[in-house]
Parts: sequence; C-alpha cells; structure tokens
Amino acid sequence: MKDSDLIAAARRARRNAHADFSKFKVGAALETADGTIITGCNIENATYGLTLCAERVAMFKALSEGYRQFRRVAVVADTQAPTPPCGSCRQILWEFGGDLEVILANLRRETGRHQLSELLPLPFDARFLK
Ligand code: THU
Repeated sequence: MKDSDLIAAARRARRNAHADFSKFKVGAALETADGTIITGCNIENATYGLTLCAERVAMFKALSEGYRQFRRVAVVADTQAPTPPCGSCRQILWEFGGDLEVILANLRRETGRHQLSELLPLPFDARFLK
C-alpha cells in the first residue's frame, strides 16, 4: 500500500471526529500486517476527560476485530506543524503495535515521519511484569 493511501484514509476518518469542545479534529489510519487499514477519529464528550484520541480509537477497533500485528500508522490534523501522538497514545501504540512507523500529515502534505521507539524512548511495557 502507498503512503498516500494510508494518509488519505486518515483524512477521511478525520471528517467523522467528534470534536465539539476543542474543535481540533484528528484522523488516524493503522495498517495491519496483512495490509488492512483500520481508521479512527478523536471522540470528545461533555465530561471532557473521557475523550479518546484518534490513534487509540483506531488501535482499539483493530484489536477488537482480532488484528494483532501492525506496520504503521498515519495521523492527520489540520495544522501546519506536525501533530504527533500524545503520551497516552504512544503508550498504547507501543504496547499493542510495537515499533510502528508513525507518518504525520495535514490536509495537504506529509509533515513528519518517525519510528515509535524514537517518540517513546525507554518505554514501560509487559516485559517488566514478568
Ligand atoms: N488528539 C488526538 O486525537 N490525537 C492526537 O494525536 C492529539 C490530540 C485529540 C484529543 C482531543 O480530542 C483533541 O485532539 C485536542 O486535544
């Protein structure tokens, strides 16, 4: 799959965002090991604190559909500067997706590209619980 396909899927998912409070809409598209694309958008609600980011919605959707292996994730927001995943999303993406490639984009162009291990150095994960 082309990078542009994954980014396009994240842009489409962003249109479904529930961002009435922040007005900051985000879309994410996760590529599974078999090439399936699972998307997510941020979902805010009236108590604010229950907000789920686009990246976690995509990952939880994928896990609940039975996917366990992932290659990369695209994240799209309408910003000039790159919008990287928040700390909570880095943790969840790491625990369930491993060292994913993270592609950042806005509505017109790609804005950045990272390995998740670079965004979350020295992660805590299940290895410490053994
Ligand atoms: N948000 C995401 O969905 N993903 C990110 O990478 C950054 C932040 C959402 C959470 C909230 O709904 C809004 O953006 C503002 O923080």
